[in-house]
Amino acid sequence: MVCLGNICRSPLAHGILAHLVRENGLDWIVESAGTGDWHIGHAPDRRSVSVAKKYGVDISAQRARHFAQTFFDQYDYIFVMDDKNYRDVLSLARHEADRNKVKMFLLEGIVPDPYFDETQFEPVYQLIADRCQELIDELKSEHYR
Ligand code: 4NP
Repeated sequence: MVCLGNICRSPLAHGILAHLVRENGLDWIVESAGTGDWHIGHAPDRRSVSVAKKYGVDISAQRARHFAQTFFDQYDYIFVMDDKNYRDVLSLARHEADRNKVKMFLLEGIVPDPYFDETQFEPVYQLIADRCQELIDELKSEHYR
C-alpha cells in the first residue's frame, strides 16, 4: 500500500488489510511505503492511529518506509492511493512486469489526502475499509492474474 508520506492513508490500508488477512486465515504479507522520504521511521499520524483504534485496528507499531525499486521484486501487487503516487511509482518501474504490478487502490477515483483536513480521517477510513474488504475477495479469486 503506497501513498505520499506513509503516515496517513497507506498505514490505514496496510493495517486494515492485514487485519482482514488474519481474520480470513490467509498468509499474505501486507506492507506499506511512501513515495516521499520525509517521514521514514516515523509512526503513523496520530489521527490515523486514533480512527483505526476506534474500529479495533492497531496501526501504532508501523513505521514509515520510502518506496524503493527493489519493492517490485518483493511484492505481487502495489496499490497506490492517488494519481501522483501512481506516476511516481511507475517512474521507478524497470519493465512491463513491474508496471503490471501497480494498481490504483480504488477502482474509481483516488483516496484524498487527509493530512491537512482533520475532518477527513473518518471518511477516508471508511473508504479504505470498504475497499480492503473487496480486495480480500478479489485477490482470493486472483482477480488480477
Ligand atoms: P499520506 O499523507 O500521504 O496519506 O501519508 C501525507 C502525510 C504527510 C505529508 C503529505 C501527505 N507531508 O507533506 O509531510
